[in-house]
Amino acid sequence: MTIFLTGASGLVGAAFARAAARRGHRVTGIVGTFAGAIEGLAAQRSVDLTRESDVTAALLDVFPQAIVNCAAVSVPEQCDADPALAQALNVALPALLARLAHHVGARLVHLSSEQVFDGARPTPYAPGDPVTPINLYGRQKVESERAVHAAAAEWAVTLRAPLLMGNSLAGRRSNHERLFADWAAGRTPRLFVDEFRQTCTAENLAEVMVELCERRDPAGVFHWAGAELLSRHALGLRIREHFKLTPAQAPIAEATRAAAPEIARKRQACLALDLSPLAGKLKTRPQTLAEQLEELKVPPPCREWYLGL
Ligand SMILES: NC(=O)c1ccc[n+]([C@@H]2O[C@H](COP(=O)([O-])OP(=O)(O)OC[C@H]3O[C@@H](n4cnc5c(N)ncnc54)[C@H](OP(=O)(O)O)[C@@H]3O)[C@@H](O)[C@H]2O)c1
Repeated sequence: MTIFLTGASGLVGAAFARAAARRGHRVTGIVGTFAGAIEGLAAQRSVDLTRESDVTAALLDVFPQAIVNCAAVSVPEQCDADPALAQALNVALPALLARLAHHVGARLVHLSSEQVFDGARPTPYAPGDPVTPINLYGRQKVESERAVHAAAAEWAVTLRAPLLMGNSLAGRRSNHERLFADWAAGRTPRLFVDEFRQTCTAENLAEVMVELCERRDPAGVFHWAGAELLSRHALGLRIREHFKLTPAQAPIAEATRAAAPEIARKRQACLALDLSPLAGKLKTRPQTLAEQLEELKVPPPCREWYLGL
């Protein structure tokens, strides 16, 4: 099928391009500033996605059977730093893509986040639970979900994703890549023992998104994540162990939310996601942490440091 992919240079977008190519789909990938080649794309175009007329022209030129939206200002601190840009990418763009999906009769797969919830309860959030965002990023994701499903109720599926693992193109984006950057620079990351996340890899999420492109159903908002809930601290220890790094080579400091209230105020304590009803209906399975770790590579910017140990 013909797929129009935004954010093709991002962590999830690049994984989606590879996954869709493996399934024989023809993907036109839209990038912003990224200039390199992206594996799996049949065509690659640079478009400023804040410019509505440019997005519309590029999409109508492809006239896709599916639209996949992986573009965003995806870091909460960057949303706070430039709320207007974040609003354009995180809300106006998905709303426009939903109108275009309705117009051309294309399936739309949009990405939202676990951060639509406040994380104040330890039990898993179901897709239908009331949303309770505590930061601008989370509020924009809620707004995007509402706009998408108002404009393309029958065509659109939104996946709320967790904190993601995986290998980004530049090697600086995902969880383990940021830890490596700290270690290579001689810094000691402070990881919370009382903040819990249900990670999956961008590759695994991308497999789910490809499956959803290939089906006309389901429509609506769903959750996808991994099979295990771990603290950020436990996750860091498992990553260090997986790469056979010692505490001296890759130090990790224990932190608590109570000791860092300025961070805790805008970050959720526990984001456990109930994956039903989606899990079980798909061929792709939620991953254990061991399966996620197997996919991780030493990030290219830190290879020299790693090999020199
Ligand atoms: N990463 C996570 O842990 C995580 C967790 C939950 C949900 N999500 C959601 O999953 C989706 C994908 O996230 P990600 O981590 O893959 O994002 P990412 O790595 O930060 O990539 C963002 C993408 O958006 C593109 N972009 C940004 N501004 C643009 C503009 N003005 N014009 C054109 N392209 C623009 C970037 O292109 P260039 O780099 O080429 O400029 C890049 O391809 C987002 O909706 C995010 O909110 C991510």
